[in-house]
Amino acid sequence: MITTDLFADAALPLKPRDERLCEGAVVLRAFALEHDAALLQAIHDITAQAPFRHLLTPGGLRMSVAMTNAGALGWVSDRRGYRYARRDPQSGEPWPSMPAVFLQLATAAAARAGFADFMPDACLVNRYEVGTRLSLHQDRDEHDYAHPIVSVSLGVPAVFLFGGLQRTDLTQHVPLAHGDVVVWGGPARQHYHGVAPIKLAHHPLLGDIRINLTFRRAG
Ligand code: SIN
Ligand code: FE2
Repeated sequence: MITTDLFADAALPLKPRDERLCEGAVVLRAFALEHDAALLQAIHDITAQAPFRHLLTPGGLRMSVAMTNAGALGWVSDRRGYRYARRDPQSGEPWPSMPAVFLQLATAAAARAGFADFMPDACLVNRYEVGTRLSLHQDRDEHDYAHPIVSVSLGVPAVFLFGGLQRTDLTQHVPLAHGDVVVWGGPARQHYHGVAPIKLAHHPLLGDIRINLTFRRAG
């Protein structure tokens, strides 16, 4: 299949407005902006097949972020723990496939950040409402930490908390707007991160919600 390369200039150097958070971590400002309509259409199609749901933590608490997945592997949590699964536990079906626009965006953002040939097999789709937060955590359910994480923000703004290798390390408070992409890998791959409680706001395309796409090579 031939797909147009929407991100042909991806390997160019960082733009002046881009921000390096530390070695291996960078914010690519507005990197996804020009493809927001295609991304939102793809999210719509994914959630028609695999609706957003509030997973339970292993301790039995309902997560305030609503989640679904696209790609060969999907991140799930329940009483048995955190893991990647090939099928949506709610339907028993495979997760919706990774849309081409997702794959191109994730690969291009990783390349811009210095990680060539990133091929994600999992996209976690997170939905935040006003007051929703994501506490500081490390992403550690993936098979190989050599691959970076690519995180795309859509909708209302958020404050991304980006810490260090220890939970108690100082965190940077990084405002993220619709279209911003954060990439962290290499020495930053296991840095703690989270999202501060979402403030009431309005976005013309998404209303009062924030959607985050997190791309990983999990398997
Ligand atoms: C995550 O850590 O998985 C999501 C981060 C975000 O929503 O920006
Ligand atoms: Fe995470």
